[in-house]
Amino acid sequence: MKVTLSVIKADIGGYVGHSESHPDIIAKAAECLNKAKKDGLLIDCQATKCGDDLQLIMTHQKGTSSYDIHKLAWDTFVEGTKLAKKMKLYGAGQDMLKDSFAGNVKGMGPGLAEMEIEERISEPVLIFMADKTSAGAWNMPLYKMFADPFNTIGLVIAANMHNGFTFEVHDVKDHKKIRFNAPEEIYDMLVLIGAAARFAVKAVYHRDNGEIAAVSSTERLYESAGRYVGKDDPVCIVRSQGIFPAVGEVLEPFAAPILVQGWMRGSHMGPLMPVALIDSTPSRFDGPPRVICLGYQLCNGTLIGPRDMFADKSFDLARQQANEMADMMRRHGPFEPHRLPLEEMEYTTMPQVMEKLNGRFQSLDAPFKTKAPASHEQ
Ligand code: F6R
Ligand code: MG
Ligand code: MG
Repeated sequence: MKVTLSVIKADIGGYVGHSESHPDIIAKAAECLNKAKKDGLLIDCQATKCGDDLQLIMTHQKGTSSYDIHKLAWDTFVEGTKLAKKMKLYGAGQDMLKDSFAGNVKGMGPGLAEMEIEERISEPVLIFMADKTSAGAWNMPLYKMFADPFNTIGLVIAANMHNGFTFEVHDVKDHKKIRFNAPEEIYDMLVLIGAAARFAVKAVYHRDNGEIAAVSSTERLYESAGRYVGKDDPVCIVRSQGIFPAVGEVLEPFAAPILVQGWMRGSHMGPLMPVALIDSTPSRFDGPPRVICLGYQLCNGTLIGPRDMFADKSFDLARQQANEMADMMRRHGPFEPHRLPLEEMEYTTMPQVMEKLNGRFQSLDAPFKTKAPASHEQ
C-alpha cells in the first residue's frame, strides 16, 4: 500500500516568549486535523510541538506536495494563529509569511518534510523535530547514519546496506541540487555539507533500489521572506530497520552533541541537545537548541505511537555534555565562534554601526586626524 507521510510545521505563536507552544494551540490543531481524518482526507494524524513550533504529522494517500494536504496545514496554522492572537501569545503568526494560500506551503513560511512510500511488512519511522536551529543541523547526523561505518555498523556487516546510499544535497542560497553516492564520493560531498549554512542534505536514497530512506526540510525562512524572520527549526523523517539503519543506528549520532547555528536571536552557535518531548522548552539564553525524536510503526497508514525516543536514559550523558558545551560557548558572550559570522546572524546592527562610524575609518598608514584621548598619547 502506498502511503504519504507529511510533517508540516510552523511557529504561529510562543508561550512564554519563544520557549514553548501553548497546549490550547496544539488542541486546536488536533481538532482541525481530526476533522480532516473524519472527512477521509487523512488516514491518521497527530498534532504536537517542539519548543515554540507547532508540528502537524499526517498520513494520507494524496502523494507529496498535495494541494489538499498543504491547504489543510495552512488552514490549521491560520486557525491556530487566530487563537494565538486572541490569547496574545508571543509572535502570533510569526511564520505565516503570506496572506493567502497559493497552492503549496513551500516558500510561504512553514517547513515541511514529506515522503511517499510503499509500506513494508513492518515500517518503523523516526520523526526528528528541532527548535532554535536551522536546516543544516541534520547534515552531520544524516551523514553518520547513512555513510559513517563508525556510527552505522550495518554499512559494513549487513549485506542489504553494503552498497551504500545516495545523498541529495541542496544549495539553499543558489537554489541548486546535486546527488552524491556514498561511500565513493564522500570526500567531495563533505566539502559541501560540512558548510551546513549553505548546503543541506534534503534526502537520502537506498542505492540498490532507489527507495527513499530520509527526507528533511531545507527551507530557509530568510530566503523566503527576503529578510531573517527566525531560524528554520527543521524537521526530518527517517525510515528504519531492514534495508535501512536500525533504530539504534539512526539515534546514535545524537549521543554525541554537536554545535549548530541558532540559539538566542538565531545568531549563535550552540549544542544540539536531544531531549524528551516534555523537555523541548528552550529557556536558557533561549536554548540551547533542542531536538526531539518521535518513533512510530506505520500500520496501513495508521500512526502507531509515538514512542518518545530521546526520553531514554542512555541520552542523559549527551544532555549533560550539551549543558557543559553550552556553558563553554556562553563564556564567549558576543564573540565568535559563539556569535555567528556577520553574514549568518539573524539580528544585526552592523549597517547602523557602520553608518555611524562612516568617516572615522582611515587607512592604516595615515596618522589619525582626530587627537587620541589623553591616556593614549605617548
Ligand atoms: C531564536 C528565537 C529567540 C528570539 C529572541 C528575541 O530563534 O526565537 O531567541 O530571537 O527571543 O525575540 P524578539 O525579537 O521576538 O523579542
Ligand atoms: Mg517563536
Ligand atoms: Mg521555533
